Amino acid sequence: MNLQKLEATARALLADGKGLLAMDESTGTANKRFAPLGVPQTEDARRAYRDLIVTTPELGKNISGAILYDETVRQKTKDERPFVEAIIQAGIIPGIKVDAGAKEMAAHPGEKITEGLDGLRERLAEYTGLGLRFAKWRAVITIGDGIPSDGCIAANADALARYAALCQEAGLVPIVEPEVLMEGSHTLEQCAEVTERTLNVVFDVLIRQRVALEGMILKPNMILPGLDCPVQNPVEEVADATVSCFLRTVPAAVPGIAFLSGGQPSELAAERLNAMNVRFKERMPWALTFSFSRAIQQPALEIWAGRDENIPAAQAALLHRAQCSRAARLGEYHPDMETSTDPATPGEQF
Ligand code: 13P
Repeated sequence: MNLQKLEATARALLADGKGLLAMDESTGTANKRFAPLGVPQTEDARRAYRDLIVTTPELGKNISGAILYDETVRQKTKDERPFVEAIIQAGIIPGIKVDAGAKEMAAHPGEKITEGLDGLRERLAEYTGLGLRFAKWRAVITIGDGIPSDGCIAANADALARYAALCQEAGLVPIVEPEVLMEGSHTLEQCAEVTERTLNVVFDVLIRQRVALEGMILKPNMILPGLDCPVQNPVEEVADATVSCFLRTVPAAVPGIAFLSGGQPSELAAERLNAMNVRFKERMPWALTFSFSRAIQQPALEIWAGRDENIPAAQAALLHRAQCSRAARLGEYHPDMETSTDPATPGEQF
């Protein structure tokens, strides 16, 4: 394992107040997001949509790394550049989702286990050859009646650690994503308890499997009440519960934490990330940034809706969300940014 190379990639992904853009929706998920907008559920529509994303002017000023899906790394942009090349030319580091999805877990009703370890070493070698520099694996933890079980958390943590070790062997920085889902009526406190339990197991196994913590990035959920919980806590309580949980569970050797958005409204995701960076500025040993998919992409996707004539407006919306997310990472986000006609470049004056 070349730890220096891994650390350099991780550092670059966390540099300049930027964050990551997840654009690695599986074919099924991409189609599900296209369907309500009347976008054709075809390979070419997915190509066109991702073309819109990677050709957004100035995206690389706010986004350090983009997570791709296997289909995309084999496609080309409209002007015939392989996507990986177009992303590098935009000043963005290309990465790849390598798990094969979360499947029903045997003997664990209502719970899921992420598959994809078989043949992973060979797939990672191919991805390295294609110029990809980091990878992602998502495990899903559901809160419900009597769940998550210890068995589900342990099996997912084992898979995450085996994936992470294989990535580091191949020279790819692993993004380790144990996602505690927002679906359900659980409270913020229950989410905190489950997330803490999950992260403790995940780091225990990562260390046992000899994963170099310096050469990985954690991609967790924020600590939130379930979508159906009658009590929806204010931004400050979410920020405090989330960072407190990580201070207890995430070793200081980990260089960065990059949140998934999980279906939160875009503005709220930015507000919450911002509050964490403002309130815990002096206390966090790791960078706290974003690796959003929906919270960056959704407004742009809705504007585009499959029509070429909407591409410039969709790209402007995408850039705006990337700017707001970067501002939140820097603790410089303000809800006024949402209405300003001239949003200042984050990191400069707002
Ligand atoms: P969301 O930000 O839409 O949750 O997606 C992030 C992600 O990469 C999920 O694996």
